[in-house]
Formats: sequence, structure tokens, C-alpha cells
Amino acid sequence: MSTTGQAGTGAARSGAAGPGSSRALRVLVLNGPNLDLLGTREPAIYGRETLTEINAALTARAAELDVLVAFFQSNHEGALIDRLHARDFDAAIVNAAGLTHTSVSIRDALLAIERPFVEVHLSDPATREPFRRVNFLEDIAAARFVGMHARGYTLALEELARRWAVGLIPGRAWNTEAEHG
Ligand code: DQA
Repeated sequence: MSTTGQAGTGAARSGAAGPGSSRALRVLVLNGPNLDLLGTREPAIYGRETLTEINAALTARAAELDVLVAFFQSNHEGALIDRLHARDFDAAIVNAAGLTHTSVSIRDALLAIERPFVEVHLSDPATREPFRRVNFLEDIAAARFVGMHARGYTLALEELARRWAVGLIPGRAWNTEAEHG
């Protein structure tokens, strides 16, 4: 399991926050199995950018958009689910990788936490092997960006910032304890 730390700390606490809120949108960027190998993993399909480079670009864009971003990558289904359960974010960008095509449990977790998420894939799974056409997440995603390589993550972030600005994402308690009293 690899995790990259919090970022986007330069975001201001005023200005572009959603209606009724004076704080910045908090976005979790969740990446599933084998995405830690981006850069060297089948570059003809996934591109040559590493996950570190993708996350750095997201951090820079998040600062411009006044968004706080946190990153989490794991090769373990349960670890991804536990990270979602923390619910310390308002919305998520999710590339569940191969688990997209197999995991009822990731789907259930995304439904349970009641946070909107944007589904991202570097490739377009629907145009690849038939087994990748099975998708447990697409019908519950707020939006999807597929087949755009790293650019899809940036577009997902911009889409969430746009939705936050017009009040389409509910402002949440700052932490799980506050939420559960
Ligand atoms: C992927 C597509 C999945 O089918 C595959 O299993 C991945 C990466 C993508 O980003 O294109 O691991 O999610």
C-alpha cells in the first residue's frame, strides 16, 4: 500500500466555498490496485506519467481552484474501503482500477458514505476486453472521465469544484466524530 500525503494546503478558507459554507471543498483522490506502477505499467495503454506526477499536477490545480486534496492509493480492497469510511472529505475522485469490474464492496462503500464521486479511468475500459465492460460504479458516479489519461483526473477535479461552487455538493462536518456527535 502506498499513500501520498495531504496537499493543497495553500487553499484559502473563504471565497470559492459552496453556498452556506465558508470553507474550501475537500476532495479525496482514491486510486486502486496497480496504479502505483503508472509510468512503467503498460504505457501504451496508461501513458507514461507516474502517479506522483499526476498527484502533483492535481495539487497545483487544486490550489488554483481553492480545493483541499488528499491522496490515497492501495492495492488492497479493504484498505480502500476503510479510507472511504473515514468520510473526512466532501467528494471523491475514484479510479478503482480492476476493482471497478469486480467489487460489489467498493460500490457498497461509495453508496454508504453518501459522498458524490467522479469516476476516472486513464484508458477507456469499455473499448478493451469484454470483462472490462462490467462496471460496478458507473451508474452511481456523479460524472465520469475515461480514456483521457492523466487529464481525466484534472477534469474530474474541475467538475467537482464547479459543482461545489453552485451548491451541488453538501458541506459536511469536518471530521467523523463531529458527524456522529
Ligand atoms: C483502469 C482500467 C481498468 O480496467 C484496469 O484494471 C486498471 C486501470 C484505467 O485507469 O484505465 O487497472 O482503471
